Amino acid sequence: MIDASSNIPKHVAIIMDGNGRWAQERGKNRIFGHRTGKKAVQNIVETAAKHKIDYLTLYAFSTENWKRPPLEVNTLMDLLIRSLKRELKQMLENNIRLQSIGALESLPVEVQKALQHTIEQTKNNSGMVLTLALNYGAHQEITQAVRSIATKVKNNIISPEKIDQNIINKHLYTRNLPAVDLLIRTSGEQRISNFLLWQIAYAELYFTEVLWPDFNETHFCAAIKSYQKRERRFGKTSEQLQEK
Ligand code: IPE
Ligand code: IPE
Ligand code: MG
Repeated sequence: MIDASSNIPKHVAIIMDGNGRWAQERGKNRIFGHRTGKKAVQNIVETAAKHKIDYLTLYAFSTENWKRPPLEVNTLMDLLIRSLKRELKQMLENNIRLQSIGALESLPVEVQKALQHTIEQTKNNSGMVLTLALNYGAHQEITQAVRSIATKVKNNIISPEKIDQNIINKHLYTRNLPAVDLLIRTSGEQRISNFLLWQIAYAELYFTEVLWPDFNETHFCAAIKSYQKRERRFGKTSEQLQEK
């Protein structure tokens, strides 16, 4: 287990990868991997809440994932609708507040409805904030932020010299979230795949070979322990950090 007294990351983000390979290793089709991956999501959400993570952000569907075969895309959307409905009870019991980031307006209407319902039902919860990244891509997020800021400049709402990091933050989908402290990616791939580019500027990165459907509490705690051993210098020297 982890030492709760030392340096728990406030914001953990996870690229949940490897469902397809997990299924293929078992001679099954990719869909089976997504179904099993859904159980890992439930388990990790509860684990993160139990270990007092304030913000958990999960990459569930990228702007690039529409390029997958239609059957896979449709199944992922169906699984999402069903888990949102089924997990509401778990979220209420665990005091979890759901929110979502991404180009949500382009998701199927049924997904949007299920999302809105769960977000509404959990909005007064005061525990962990669970953010699902759906139809999310950092390039798309930054593009819409630039467009929105440019429109405000044109309408004399913001002057160009006032544009700073804070204003940019406020125009991202993650405006209510702190920067990511720890980014985990499962399945052995060591890339970001268009996730939270701005928000991970100073995140600690943790890559594991474990495929997402197998990712459990022990693996999650191993990532937290690795984080706790690191020195985050934010540009300073190690000596400067010791002085405090
Ligand atoms: C992650 O698993 C789930 C989504 C991207 C929706 P993958 O489906 O990418 O699994 P692999 O990478 O093909 O094994
Ligand atoms: C990233 O995984 C997206 C999600 C986990 C939702 P992918 O499997 O789509 O990433 P790439 O295409 O291998 O980089
Ligand atoms: Mg993948």
